[in-house]
Amino acid sequence: MNSNSLILEAKKAMEKAYAPYSKFKVGAAVLLEDGTIIHGANIENSSYGLSNCAERSALFSTISQGFDTKKIKGIAIIGDTKDAISPCGACRQVIRELVPKNAVIYLCNLDGKVIETNIDELLPFSFDLFEDSK
Ligand code: THU
Repeated sequence: MNSNSLILEAKKAMEKAYAPYSKFKVGAAVLLEDGTIIHGANIENSSYGLSNCAERSALFSTISQGFDTKKIKGIAIIGDTKDAISPCGACRQVIRELVPKNAVIYLCNLDGKVIETNIDELLPFSFDLFEDSK
């Protein structure tokens, strides 16, 4: 699957958002080695702090559906932003834990802007209990 197809999947996921408070829909699509795609959308709550971002929804769904996160090749994230969307700090830490370091991360907007990056760029000097503890 090429990056354009994955980004299109993220756009489809965006339509599933539950964002009645911010009205800001975000979509994410996880790509596995065998071509499986898992959608995620942001899901908000009237207790605002309980809201869940699209990329975390996609990753939690990947695990919940029984897939192995080690098989993740890429993830695309899209929103209606001026520039390519930028994931929040919490999502960067979750990506760091659940997505292989060599996975490609596409940050996108609806105007066709795409930044191809990876977790080391998004979260340098990150914390990993498995790697960092003595
Ligand atoms: N949001 C995401 O889902 N992903 C991002 O990368 C940025 C922010 C959501 C959280 C909240 O539901 C809405 O966008 C506004 O912040």
